[in-house]
Amino acid sequence: MARKEAIEDNENAPGLLMLGVAMLVHLRLERFKNFKDASLHLGPLSILIGSNASGKSNIRDAFRFLHGLSRGYSIAEILGEKYVEGGFLQWAGVRGGVREATYPGASTFSLTVTFTLGMRFRLIPTKYHIEVDPDVDGGNSRVVRESLYYGPQMRFDSHPPENPVVQKDAQHIRVRIRPGGDYRRGHAETFIAHQPVLTQIADRIGERRKDSKARVVVNHVKSVLSALQSMRFLDLDPDAMRKPSLPGQTILGDRGENLSSVLQAIYKVRDQRAALIEWIRELTPMDARDFEFVPDQTGRILVSLVEQNGHKTSAYSASDGTLRFLAMIAALMGPKPAQFYFFEELDSGLHPARLYLLLQLIEQKTFGGSIQMVASTHSPQLMRFLSPKALKDTSLIYRLPDSYEGRIRGIMDMPDIEQILEQQDLARLHESGWFEDAMVFSEAGES
Ligand SMILES: Nc1ncnc2c1ncn2[C@@H]1O[C@H](COP(=O)(O)OP(=O)(O)OP(=O)(O)O)[C@@H](O)[C@H]1O
Ligand SMILES: [Mg+2]
Repeated sequence: MARKEAIEDNENAPGLLMLGVAMLVHLRLERFKNFKDASLHLGPLSILIGSNASGKSNIRDAFRFLHGLSRGYSIAEILGEKYVEGGFLQWAGVRGGVREATYPGASTFSLTVTFTLGMRFRLIPTKYHIEVDPDVDGGNSRVVRESLYYGPQMRFDSHPPENPVVQKDAQHIRVRIRPGGDYRRGHAETFIAHQPVLTQIADRIGERRKDSKARVVVNHVKSVLSALQSMRFLDLDPDAMRKPSLPGQTILGDRGENLSSVLQAIYKVRDQRAALIEWIRELTPMDARDFEFVPDQTGRILVSLVEQNGHKTSAYSASDGTLRFLAMIAALMGPKPAQFYFFEELDSGLHPARLYLLLQLIEQKTFGGSIQMVASTHSPQLMRFLSPKALKDTSLIYRLPDSYEGRIRGIMDMPDIEQILEQQDLARLHESGWFEDAMVFSEAGES
């Protein structure tokens, strides 16, 4: 089927887009934190390596910005903090807040994220772009450019290359919206600039139910929002994992909250129970054979591991590493896994032999299903255990000497890497800092 037909076909059945599973394929960071202009290619499992302060967590911050956006917050709230009534902190913002969001000397930053939305015929890239002026001094953090494209088709754009839109003031942003036949034309509407258009447009044009072209835009916007909403940033904390939780709470919190009830939900499904027990037997050094979920007086439950000899270890006294495993299993096997996980320091607190098994589980889940994961690591061991498929999506984050500037490079895209790996061990190369040296050397040759 020709490309155009596939697109049209899809528009005639706008509901179809919502069925799509989003896969993030690309993130471009311009003037964001220590990246002047860098691109990260993403696969089912994307490992980030690189020295301290190279920018791995800044990439996480970029994803967090995109996730915060999907929650309907204003730009100031996404970057700063969001409190709800009663002084309860609902959103912790992005590290460094508005002050440290842009590259030195720049007044704006922009992020561009490309997805493919799973559909019947073919995968057409959806590209969302946002440029933000944090306006540190003026206190008017706002959007200065924003657009959404589906392949070549504009959904909305504040600065369409053809048919420009006049921007009137800093409080508002005008975008051209596609509905109306010819995709290059559309009509312009005004939105407030302190909040992303993406979270305003669906409500606005969704009211015009009769307009089928508007529905196409609304559905597309909702698919993008839902993909961004489904991002999770696991930052496991043993104290949170040790707290009893209410049966039925099946979403694992970012710090590992609800661990016991998520495990219980997995345990209740017969086929999954066997897999769960199998993994825990392999992953922990103790001879765990079964789980028990012990209720307290408030009805909350706490997981216990039952060993072959009958000895029980509750989450209170299970080791931190064991709890981390359990949380990873809960995140990947639970009834409501997120579509996208960002995991910092995957190797943290794990013995290499266990790390190998955990990677097996992660590769099984990410390559086999609809879960995508980005994980940073400092572990040469982990590099050794990565499958060739996963190595393809492993990126080095590095800085040029005496410079703020962070760069990103796929390690398999490095010059002559295949020949080098025939003779050298990847983990050793990583340990010796060879990747960073090779990049600096090759960039010096280029300039
Ligand atoms: N706005 C900015 N402009 C330039 N550099 C910045 C900006 N914000 C942060 N940085 C730099 O980014 C560095 C932190 O990077 P990041 O936290 O991503 O490192 P990392 O790769 O995660 O390191 P680690 O492995 O130690 O966790 C800081 O040291 C700072 O130099
Ligand atoms: Mg970091």
